[in-house]
Amino acid sequence: MSAILPGSTIGFLGGGQLGRMAAMAARTMGYDVHVLDPEHHCPARPLASHVITAPWGDADAAAKLAEGADVVTIEIEQIPLPSLEAAERRAPLRPGPQVLWTVQDRARQKEWLRDHGFPLGPFAVVRTADETTAAVRSLGPCIVKSTHGGYDGRGQARVSEPADAAAAFLGIGAPVCVAERFLTLAAELSVMVARTPEGEMRAYPPARNHHTHGVLTWSVIPSSFDDAVVRRATEIACGIAEQLGVVGLIAVELFLLDDGLLCVNELAPRPHNTYHHSERACVTSQFEQLVRAVCGLPLGDTDVVRPAAIYNLLGEVWSGPDAPDITGVLGLPGVRLHLYGKREARAGRKMGHLSACGETSDMALARVVDAYKRIAAGTKGEVA
Ligand SMILES: Nc1ncnc2c1ncn2[C@@H]1O[C@H](COP(=O)(O)OP(=O)(O)OP(=O)(O)O)[C@@H](O)[C@H]1O
Ligand SMILES: [Mg+2]
Repeated sequence: MSAILPGSTIGFLGGGQLGRMAAMAARTMGYDVHVLDPEHHCPARPLASHVITAPWGDADAAAKLAEGADVVTIEIEQIPLPSLEAAERRAPLRPGPQVLWTVQDRARQKEWLRDHGFPLGPFAVVRTADETTAAVRSLGPCIVKSTHGGYDGRGQARVSEPADAAAAFLGIGAPVCVAERFLTLAAELSVMVARTPEGEMRAYPPARNHHTHGVLTWSVIPSSFDDAVVRRATEIACGIAEQLGVVGLIAVELFLLDDGLLCVNELAPRPHNTYHHSERACVTSQFEQLVRAVCGLPLGDTDVVRPAAIYNLLGEVWSGPDAPDITGVLGLPGVRLHLYGKREARAGRKMGHLSACGETSDMALARVVDAYKRIAAGTKGEVA
């Protein structure tokens, strides 16, 4: 298979922050960038020589993006199959429609993982309020999650008692949900794997992640998990990448349970919030790695050169008439600011992140938490 060389055009289905940062890496390597996104002022717009504004379901628009590109990749997996197939007919879509179709439905994704022998927490697919009640009765306290369209904890409800299950299902308002047993987590981690069209694979060292109310707060690399956990997490993630046949990236979110067992939470076949620190920490960032993988170039070294952490900046920090001074922290040692160029700040919306490097993971994390606290002081931003 021949490589798609610098000077070629990469089409991105999705021009949010992931598309923007991947597009920056593509530009650095001498590629041209085209973008399709439903939002006119999408974060990747400044990087793209051509932007198509259209909804995900517009298969003609997806076809147009692919017509002008040498390869197409995605920053969001929730794109209807007809649009993916329309793109795939005109340019290689990496990862392919089959991978995205498998992953984009939470129930289908879990069933695929279970059928391929990957470890999962107990769950049930529920289609009615009564089925949800029965699931909570048999599984115990659950998180009920819509099968489609959820991200950052949206479309989810925690249910402690069977009596609350029906209202939770109806409140989510989705035709199908997954009820997952609420697990006691010792820690959360993720593993990013890149895979080329020839099947060459490289995994990054695991990242240690912290979520608040279902949304990623911070992430740090290296993770300081013991060798057995690192080995097992890497084996699970590489097994998934290989068996799914991913070309590009896949992030595997994992839960570490109290008894030391790992289970897969969910999959994201694209750059991931928990590897934004790879720009600071690793020889090759996840964004450059995506470009290399989808273009069939040799994959980059994933080693950590120095520990780094990120802390998300959500819309809360922007709220109120006076935006906080987000540049005030730039004098702190090791700290950098990454803004996504979003015009409107809304509660829960990812507006940017802070990153910090340090001599150890703990030091990097302490620096980024300190920087965040200074920004959040006087605002409603929550410190985890
Ligand atoms: N079964 C569970 N038991 C305990 N905690 C859970 C469970 N499911 C989810 N969580 C918590 O909620 C977080 C978000 O869950 P999940 O990844 O399913 O949501 P999401 O909306 O798809 O998130 P994102 O798109 O940000 O990854 C998890 O990282 C974890 O902290
Ligand atoms: Mg998640």
